Amino acid sequence: MRGRRSKSRQREMAYNSNLKEEHTMRNINGLTVKKLTVEHMTNPIGLDVSEPRFGWKLESGKKNVHQTAYQIRLYKENELAADTGKLDRDTSIEVTAEGFRAEPKTAYQVEVTVWDNHGETASLEGCFETGRLGVPFVSGWAEPEQEPTPDSLAGKEMDCDSVSVNAFADQERDFAEFRPAQYVRIPFEVKKGLKKARIYMTAHGIYQVYVNGTRPDAREFAPENTSYHKVLQYQTYDVTSLLSEGKNVLGVILADGWWAGRVGVSGDSCQYGNKTGLLLDCDLDYMDGSKETITGEQGKSSTGPILFSDLFVGEKYDAGKEIRGWNTPDFDDGDWIPVHQAEYPMENLTGQCAPPVRVIKTLEPAEIFTTPAGETMIDMGQVMAGVLEIELDAPAGIQVKLEHSEVLGDDGNYFNNILGTNKEQTDFYITKEGHQTYRPSFTYHGFRYVRVTGWPGRISKHAVKAHVFSSEMEDIGTFHTSDERLNKLQENIWWSQTANTISIPTDCPQREKAGWTGDIMAYAPTMCFNRKADAFLTSWMANVRADQLDSGAVPDIVPFLKAYEIFMMAGQGSVTSCGWGDAVIAVPYAVYQAYGDRRILEENYGAMEKWMDYIADRATNHHPEAYESWDEEHKARSRYLWNTDFHFGDWLIPSIVLGNPDGAAMMQTALATMETVAPAYYAFSAMNMVKVANVLGRTEDAQKYEALYEKIRDAFIKEYVHTDGTMDADFQGLYVIALKMGLVPDEVRPLMTEHLCEMIKKNRGCLDTGFLSVLFLMDVLCENGKRDVAYSLLFQTRCPSWLYEVEHGATTMWESWGAVGENGEVSTYSYNHYTFGCVGEWMYKEIGGLQMAEAGYKKLRIAPALDCGLTSAGVSEETPYGKAAVDWELLDGRAIVHVEIPANTTAEVALPGIREEIGSGRYTFTVDIK
Ligand code: BGC
Repeated sequence: MRGRRSKSRQREMAYNSNLKEEHTMRNINGLTVKKLTVEHMTNPIGLDVSEPRFGWKLESGKKNVHQTAYQIRLYKENELAADTGKLDRDTSIEVTAEGFRAEPKTAYQVEVTVWDNHGETASLEGCFETGRLGVPFVSGWAEPEQEPTPDSLAGKEMDCDSVSVNAFADQERDFAEFRPAQYVRIPFEVKKGLKKARIYMTAHGIYQVYVNGTRPDAREFAPENTSYHKVLQYQTYDVTSLLSEGKNVLGVILADGWWAGRVGVSGDSCQYGNKTGLLLDCDLDYMDGSKETITGEQGKSSTGPILFSDLFVGEKYDAGKEIRGWNTPDFDDGDWIPVHQAEYPMENLTGQCAPPVRVIKTLEPAEIFTTPAGETMIDMGQVMAGVLEIELDAPAGIQVKLEHSEVLGDDGNYFNNILGTNKEQTDFYITKEGHQTYRPSFTYHGFRYVRVTGWPGRISKHAVKAHVFSSEMEDIGTFHTSDERLNKLQENIWWSQTANTISIPTDCPQREKAGWTGDIMAYAPTMCFNRKADAFLTSWMANVRADQLDSGAVPDIVPFLKAYEIFMMAGQGSVTSCGWGDAVIAVPYAVYQAYGDRRILEENYGAMEKWMDYIADRATNHHPEAYESWDEEHKARSRYLWNTDFHFGDWLIPSIVLGNPDGAAMMQTALATMETVAPAYYAFSAMNMVKVANVLGRTEDAQKYEALYEKIRDAFIKEYVHTDGTMDADFQGLYVIALKMGLVPDEVRPLMTEHLCEMIKKNRGCLDTGFLSVLFLMDVLCENGKRDVAYSLLFQTRCPSWLYEVEHGATTMWESWGAVGENGEVSTYSYNHYTFGCVGEWMYKEIGGLQMAEAGYKKLRIAPALDCGLTSAGVSEETPYGKAAVDWELLDGRAIVHVEIPANTTAEVALPGIREEIGSGRYTFTVDIK
C-alpha cells in the first residue's frame, strides 16, 4: 500500500477514546454520510479484532436514494494502510476492507467515501485503535498482600431448600469473612517528549484505575462479568493527557466483584478465586521512538476506607480511614507493601469489545417520608439498578445505613422482597468530620426504596440522588400511542432492560444478577429493538461458547458459576434445559435479524451445531422409562423427541404460581410442561438452524435441519396432538408453542387455535403463558386470524396481564404477574425481570407497523394496526441504515400515516387499499377507514 495523505488532510493521530465527534463532509447536493462504526462502536480503542467491520449511514434530502459504490481507505500514521478502491456495491453495514489485517496496538484513521444513484458523493472520517491482538503482557499478575476470602462452597453440599429461605438481612452480622478493598500505587517517572501513553489492564475482582488522581474513564465494574477462567477482558485507556514529565503514579482499587465475591442465587463466594489481583501494562511511547512499559508488578499496596465491597451484599466505607493523596505522585508510601507476583494462565485474555457499564441516568428522589413504623424511607419513584449518592454534614464516626428494596409492604413499611443468603443490598457509610459525599464504588442494587438509619438530622431531597447503571448502548427505539398505559408499559420494559444489561444479560439485578440463558432467549428481539445491543450480545456470546460443555450442552446460566452448577446438579440432575440452551441459536439469530450482523452467526455456528448434536444424542439415545414397552414405530418416533431430562418448561405459568411465590410452585410449572416443551423447542431450534444455515450459504446443512424438523414435527404430532386440536398437557402456552413451531397438522390448526382462544376466554380473558410461550403468544394469535384476541390480551387489566402491572403501579416488568396481588399484597418476587416484556417487540412491529422484511431492515414492511382501537401511534427505530419511522393518526374517518424510510433501503407499504413498494424518503398516506 502506498500513498500519504495530503498535508491539509493530515490529522493529528493522537488518539482520544472519548472522541465522539465525527468528521462528515456535506456534499453541496445534500448527500451526507454519518455515524461511522467500527465493530458496531464509535471510534473504539483497544479493539481485539484483526478484520474489523465498518458501517455507515447515508442521509439525503432526496427520495429513493441508494448507495451505488463505496471506498474505504485506512491510514496508519497518515500512511495509507489499505484502500478498497471504489467498489460498486450497496453494502453499508458489516463491511470489511478485504485483505486488511490490523496490527496490534495501532491507531488507524478511517475514511469512507460513498456514491449514490443520484450521482452524488460524500465522505466521512473516523478512527479506531487495536488492542494487543495476542501480544503478551510485559507484566505478570500482581497480588496485594491479603487474607484470602474464605470459600463458602468448600465442603458444602447444596440442595434446593438451602437457597431460598435463609434471610440474613434481619440478623446482625459482623461480616468477618469479608475482605477490605486493596489500594495499589504504581509510581513511575515520565521522561521528556512523551508522544502517547496507553494502559492495558485487567483484574481478578473488579477495579478502578486512577492516573495522578484522575480516572481516565468513569466506567463501572471493569473488567466486567465473564467466564473468567476462559474469557477475561482487559481494558485499554488513552492516558497521554493525564501524564506529565517527571513523577507520576497509577492508583488502582481492587474489590471482590464476581471473582471472589458472593454471587448468584446461593450467594456463595470465590466462584473463580479467593484473592484479588491486577495485570497492568502502561506503555509509554516517546517522540524519539523509544518505548517503555510500566508494570503492575512495580506496585505497592495497602487497605483503605472500603472495609468491604460486595456486588450483592453491599459496601462498607469508613471515611475516617481515607488516605489523603494516595493516588497522587507526592504521597509517601513508605509503609505500603510491595505486591506479590502470581502465576495464572494468560490464554483467557481478550480486549473488551463491548460498551462499558456506566451511569446512564441520575435521578432525584420522588419523596422522602417516615413510614408507619417511624423509619426514614427514600422513594426514588422508579425501580432501577444502581446506587445512591449521599451528601451530608456530620461529625466523624456516625454510621449511616442504606437498605435497598423494590417495594414497600402493604402496611407501607420497609419490605425485603429479596430473600436469601448474602442478599442484604445494604451500604454502610461511616462519616468523617464536615461536609462529605459518598457513593459506593463496587456494588449495585436493585431498588426503588431505601430505608435510612443513622442519618444525622433530617435528610433533604437535595442530599440524595440515585445513579442508574447499564452497559452503554444507544437507545434506538421510540414508541408512543394515544393510550398512556401502553406508553408506560413500553417505558417499564426499557427500565427492566437497562437494569438487566449490566455487563451481561441478567435475569434480575438483585437476587441473582445471573446470565440466565432462557430469559435472554425470550427477550432478545425486544432488547435489540430498544437499544443497540449488537456489541453487547456479541461479547456475551463469547462466554456462551466458552462455557458450552464438551457434550454440547449449553448451561442455563452464562457465565456459568460453580455454585449454580452444584446447585442445579443437586436439584435437577442437569445443567441445561430446553429453551435456555436454545439461546445459543436464538440470540445470535435475533442479532442478525435486527442488525444484519452475519458474523455473529458465523462465529457461533459451531456452537449451535454442537447444541443440536447434544439434543439429538439425548433424543436418540436416552429414553423415558416406558420406552421398552413401546412398539417399534413408537420407539422410532421417540428418538426424535427430547422427552427426557429436567427442563424448566413453560416456566412460571401464572395459574400455577399466582399467589404462591414459593420455589415448589415454580417447579410445578416445570414438571407440568417439560415433556411437551422440550421436543417442541427441539423443533424450534431445527427450524432456526435452517434459517441460519441458509444465511451462511450452507445449503446442505439447511436441508439436513429441514429434514430433521420434519421428523420432529411428525413425531410430535403423533405423540401429543389429538385430532380435535387438544393435547394432554392442556396449557395455553403449549398450544402457543405448538402453533408457532408448526407442530400441528394444517387441518387441526384452526381447532387448536379455537381451543386456545376458548381457554383464554375461560381464564377471565387472561393469558396463562410462561417464559417459553409468552414470546410467541401475540404473533400466534395474529397469524391465526385472532388479532382481536391478541388486542383483548393487550388491553386486559385483570391479573395476569401487562396492563394489570401498569395499573398496579409497576415501573418495571415483574418476575410474576401477580407480584403485587389484586388486594395490594406484595410478595418476595423480583420486581425487575425483563422476560415478560418481550411483548415490546410485538408492540413496535404490530401497533406501529415497523417490521423488518429483510435482516437489518435492508427492506422494511410498513403495516400499522390502524384498527387496533387506538387513535394514534408512532414508532421509530434507528436501524443500521438510519432512522425508520411510522406515525399514524385517525381523523374524521381517515387515517393519516407518515412514513420515513432510511436511505439505502426500500419498504413495502401495506395499508388498507394500498400495496406499494417505496424507496427512501418521507411519505404521507391518507386512507379511508370504515
Ligand atoms: C431466574 C429466572 C430463570 C429461572 C430458571 C430464576 O431464579 O430468576 O429468570 O430463568 O430461575 O428457571
